[in-house]
Amino acid sequence: MEPADWQQVQGIYQEGIDTGNATFEASAPDWEHFDRSRLPGHRHVAASADGTVVGWAAVSPVSARPVYAGVVEHSVYVASSARGLGIGEALLQALIESTENEGIWTIQASVFPENEASLKLHLSTGFTIVGRRQRIARMTHGPLKGQWRDTLLIERRSPGI
Ligand SMILES: CC(C)(COP(=O)(O)OP(=O)(O)OC[C@H]1O[C@@H](n2cnc3c(N)ncnc32)[C@H](O)[C@@H]1OP(=O)(O)O)[C@@H](O)C(=O)NCCC(=O)NCCS
Repeated sequence: MEPADWQQVQGIYQEGIDTGNATFEASAPDWEHFDRSRLPGHRHVAASADGTVVGWAAVSPVSARPVYAGVVEHSVYVASSARGLGIGEALLQALIESTENEGIWTIQASVFPENEASLKLHLSTGFTIVGRRQRIARMTHGPLKGQWRDTLLIERRSPGI
């Protein structure tokens, strides 16, 4: 991912948010916030032959404590026009490779139980469900605004690190 990709990345992020099943966030961040919070070595985009960005993945550290330096939380978003084509899987594989190469041992995420596509994608790329968090937070936007929702905590522990 290059800074020049940001507008498209942000658009795909917002499109995912608008599904109501991707995240508790109500709107995509600006570049400064994204850039500050995501590790620079693990920001990936998938692009078509003409350079159009059709998906992205990135990670944030989960803790500032040195012992957890190898644990990150990821996001993966694919443009609605390009879903179901294996792009999410390719992005996750790229993320697994780049993080493992830097000694990161656990990738985790929280997924709404209703997000079937995300669950299927993650379970088929080596993630497991750690547990279900009950009414962990409330939606602040969309048709479910104000509702408490559960999330599934998922993780992939690298077998090699
Ligand atoms: C979740 C998401 C990233 C999946 O990306 P994708 O490129 O469509 O997924 P892929 O084509 O790589 O498919 C991966 C697996 O998920 C399955 N899948 C994809 N879309 C599906 C759907 N709508 N329902 C059920 N399974 C689905 C595929 O069949 C495939 O499984 P298989 O390998 O066993 O056939 C994409 O749907 C998306 O961006 N959604 C909106 C944002 C979002 O929810 N992000 C995740 C937040 S946790």
